[in-house]
Amino acid sequence: MFPWRGCRGKFLQVLDLSPQPRVIPDSFKRDLLNRVDIVDLIQRHLPLKKAGANYSACCPFHNEKSPSFTVSPSKQFYHCFGCGAHGDAIGFLMEYSGLGYIEAIKELAAGAGMTMPDFEPRFGKKKEEDGPDLHDIMQRASQYYREQLKASPHAIEYLKRRGLSGQIAARFGIGYAPEGWQNLQAAFPKYDDKCLKDAGLVIENDAGKRYDRFRDRIMFPIVNQRGFVIGFGGRVIGAGEPKYLNSPETPLFEKGRELYGLPQARQAIRDAGRVLVVEGYMDVVALAHHGVEYAVATLGTATTPVHVHKLLRQADEIVFSFDGDAAGRKAAWHALEVSLPATLDQKAIRFLFLPEGEDPDSYVRAEGKQAFEDLVGRAEPLSTYLLTQLRARVDTNTAEGRSRLLHEAKPLVMNITSAPALQLQLLKHVADLAGMTQTEVEQQWELRRTKAFASAWEKPELPKLPRAAPQSVQRWLLKRMLIKSGLARELPLERFCGEDVESRGLIALAEYSLVQPEQGSNFDALVIDHFRGTEFETLFNQLRSELMVLNLSPEQADAEFRDSLPKLERDHIDQQLNELQAKARTGAFSRADADRMNELTKRKAALDRRPNGNRSVV
Ligand code: UTP
Ligand code: MN
Repeated sequence: MFPWRGCRGKFLQVLDLSPQPRVIPDSFKRDLLNRVDIVDLIQRHLPLKKAGANYSACCPFHNEKSPSFTVSPSKQFYHCFGCGAHGDAIGFLMEYSGLGYIEAIKELAAGAGMTMPDFEPRFGKKKEEDGPDLHDIMQRASQYYREQLKASPHAIEYLKRRGLSGQIAARFGIGYAPEGWQNLQAAFPKYDDKCLKDAGLVIENDAGKRYDRFRDRIMFPIVNQRGFVIGFGGRVIGAGEPKYLNSPETPLFEKGRELYGLPQARQAIRDAGRVLVVEGYMDVVALAHHGVEYAVATLGTATTPVHVHKLLRQADEIVFSFDGDAAGRKAAWHALEVSLPATLDQKAIRFLFLPEGEDPDSYVRAEGKQAFEDLVGRAEPLSTYLLTQLRARVDTNTAEGRSRLLHEAKPLVMNITSAPALQLQLLKHVADLAGMTQTEVEQQWELRRTKAFASAWEKPELPKLPRAAPQSVQRWLLKRMLIKSGLARELPLERFCGEDVESRGLIALAEYSLVQPEQGSNFDALVIDHFRGTEFETLFNQLRSELMVLNLSPEQADAEFRDSLPKLERDHIDQQLNELQAKARTGAFSRADADRMNELTKRKAALDRRPNGNRSVV
């Protein structure tokens, strides 16, 4: 299904029929997307106003006073020109209500009065020649590690010693990678398949010899919002270095975007209206074991803006928990800096510092749920934390100290771009601490001087629109192919063999559309859905946003596409001719090359005689 190039090895063994994740038939999604109206759906959550052919509202994903959130009934798509949020009906429910993919489809189906089909398990259904994709590989590895845990008294003993139950191990899919160098061979008979390396499960040494990355470790699968295993964290049993070994970054797994435990915590986060961000895998699991189920962990990386945005969409309050040591305080300050531009007036971000030497796991085990939640309840608000830290850095009894405070506060306060009320409050506090009036501070920071700033003060400054990517031939074609299915058939695909995401996306879309029945409308909706969660998700979403503005009909798309083909072919011929000429210069020119050059030159001349042959594509 996914065009992971080079991952075409065949697996002899039929995959395990695992209950999760599953795939809903395309035919059902097609019917569903035909029946659901995104305007109706969003209207239930936001007051939409008609604006020309579209509808608009203030964006629910960032703070704004004038509406830049736009919903297109013809495209069945939403796009915010302020913060760049975009998606289809399924995407809206996932973002707005924090639902998982399957949950979002279920909710839409219920609203449209459709019964969910008994959908097929995704694994073990594929034709053999398709080969595995990375999702399959990760799922199978996870299954294997879980089985190995059952067979390893020594690993079970370790988990018990850490106070965990079988239920909680099952809930997080915890497994065990046994001792030994090539155990995965048992799960993957084709141990030398390229995919195993791409998935980060095996390591190849300089001599080309392969071995398992994870050996004698407790395995924590990292699961994304759609329920796919995308990586692992492996803990040594007892002492050893490194304590935790993580999957490398792969096409599926980008550490800075993911949070451990999010799918398991989603319901509890919604119920509590709060998410707790901790530092370790074990913290999440131990807290869940003790009934604190709304915790997630970063994956051995610092907090990123993506983390904060993701969490703010799902909860009204984020509580960051850090160990009370120097490293913890440093990480907390970083989390604060990252949170400033993301925070909103209607949300709260707080910081919890545990007593030195404790982490959430040890604390909840020693003191219990109630005591831990009391701590969470007393966590410091972002504003308090920011001001205390600033004050601690300077001596406010001297003019120099107060000036320095002002100097250090400026970039922090100015970065609170989406929470104007909070920004103003902090400004007043800082003025107080510096022994100045609010106006004096504003003058110091040159807030009133520039017009742009004055207006930013009245209303939140809109985040900059992502600069439109320069139009490539690939993008131009992709947009037409999204609107009118079946166009891929006409395309000289060999021309697009580049490794850039647009070329690969073009091939992927062509491969997908070739196996689809011809679609009247809504082809773009199907495509968006099909590529959700893959490396092409962003590309197709951007293209669809661009299409909202372009407003191209399928007929236009078809006509423009056909018009462009001669030019495309001509470019392709030129490219080949150039290569042949280069070859001629090196003297490695063969008879066959000369024939080919002749033929290409003739074809080019024929094209030039046709109308439109020179028409520019972009
Ligand atoms: P800690 O060292 O605080 O471990 O790492 P912990 O969570 O308390 O683990 P236990 O209780 O000893 O089992 C916190 C997090 O930092 C990352 C992991 O994500 C870990 O959960 N980490 C730590 C690594 O990635 N590699 C390491 O070697 C250590
Ligand atoms: Mn710990």
